Amino acid sequence: MEFISKSLGETAEIASNFASTLESKENGATTVGLYGDLGSGKTTFMKYLALSLGITETIQSPTFVIMKSFNLQSSIFNKLIHIDAYRIESETEMLNLDWQEIISDPKNLICIEWPEKIAGIMPPHIVIKFEHVSEAERKISIA
Ligand SMILES: Nc1ncnc2c1ncn2[C@@H]1O[C@H](COP(=O)(O)OP(=O)(O)O)[C@@H](O)[C@H]1O
Ligand SMILES: [Mg+2]
Repeated sequence: MEFISKSLGETAEIASNFASTLESKENGATTVGLYGDLGSGKTTFMKYLALSLGITETIQSPTFVIMKSFNLQSSIFNKLIHIDAYRIESETEMLNLDWQEIISDPKNLICIEWPEKIAGIMPPHIVIKFEHVSEAERKISIA
């Protein structure tokens, strides 16, 4: 599915609709890869996704922390785990953060910015691509 978002409000709506399509898996975490250049809207989408899952804490670009975990109430998932892999130098770094354990828990919803940085250890995942169209427009493709 492809969307052109012309405002933050439209991105919020796309994120909220996406949230409602999510299902847990029996054999592991539900994993979402957020692909796209800097400023294409990955973190913004995450903010609205988190909001629609009931998270009131602020979602920031986790520039200094690679991974941040949020507890979820009234969701099919227990945790939303937001990862920004931009600064990861090697996949070992992720493995050291209990990656194998995190991806094997069906109660986890994992969203990763810059998943291409850890392509070798990414489990099968939902692919969302973000593109900068103009100042206020973003193309969001969900596969
Ligand atoms: N339609 C839109 N959807 C999402 N973000 C938008 C939109 N129009 C402008 N923006 C702006 O684009 C920027 C996207 O930044 P961010 O989400 O941090 O990108 P990334 O995480 O991909 O680097 C934000 O400053 C946001 O306000
Ligand atoms: Mg970001």
